[in-house]
Amino acid sequence: MAETAARTDVGLDHMWKDIIDLGLQPYIEHLDTNGYTVIPPEIANPNGLTERMLEACLDISERRNGERPDLMHGKIRSGGSPIGDAMKAILLEDSVFEEALMNPALLAVSTYLCGYDVVLSSLSSTMKGPGETLFRLHTDTRLPSPLPTQALLCKCIYALTDFDRENGSTAFVPGSHKWGRNPVDNETVIGEGASYKAVPAEAPAGSLIIFHGSTWHGAYNRAAPGLRASVHLLMVRSILRVTEDFYKRIPEEVLARNPARFAILTQQGVVPAYLDKEDERAKVMSAMKYTSAFERESGIALPVIR
Ligand SMILES: [Fe+2]
Repeated sequence: MAETAARTDVGLDHMWKDIIDLGLQPYIEHLDTNGYTVIPPEIANPNGLTERMLEACLDISERRNGERPDLMHGKIRSGGSPIGDAMKAILLEDSVFEEALMNPALLAVSTYLCGYDVVLSSLSSTMKGPGETLFRLHTDTRLPSPLPTQALLCKCIYALTDFDRENGSTAFVPGSHKWGRNPVDNETVIGEGASYKAVPAEAPAGSLIIFHGSTWHGAYNRAAPGLRASVHLLMVRSILRVTEDFYKRIPEEVLARNPARFAILTQQGVVPAYLDKEDERAKVMSAMKYTSAFERESGIALPVIR
């Protein structure tokens, strides 16, 4: 009798169960077809998560800038930038951002796109005021074309205030994640003179927008008064270089109060570049402590650490 390979549970059954239990199938279908999806507040906003994040973001802005942003009438400090004013590295500023990362809907879709060892590359907040300039189309997969059609990364955006065309929403070119390349020259234009038609993400406050790393996107200028507020999580496959360094920077108490997956998501299961064989061994042992804990807790096998 032929020898059969040992069965390893790589988690696909778990992943589909989560997607079905959360009622995410229509949003996965939209994502597959269009390269982005908008998950509504009734799924994406458990226990008033986004309302609490908004308060936390206003608090952080006040601490950092000495002034609390005025959502109704405020302008941004950077004076009409199409991107807005980004507050970087806020994960550890308030425990609500741990919840934002562990939100089941965010994890189910990020896992669908990038696998169970997906890690958080950055967590930041953006406030964007009125302006004239549109944010040109680009992809977030910072590689030269051709781009992989399988996602290497995905961006998750919590709408803390309403997102639509007037409010300066994110703009997407539906289906562009399948083209496997970055826009060039005139193709980066949104609106008049555009080569491809972009559409605004219509997302009431409390929604979660998620898009594939190869989807062409940009943003409309905000025409309405006041500020658009959002929280952005960039999720990447664990082998990629990250933009924010969480390795060995998460306090033990934060790791202890979260499921084992939190440590995987915050890069503790990654082996960074080593200096020599001894250093490699120490880094592999450290990573294995976290990957083993996750595997025990979930019954899901992660890729073997090398
Ligand atoms: Fe982007």
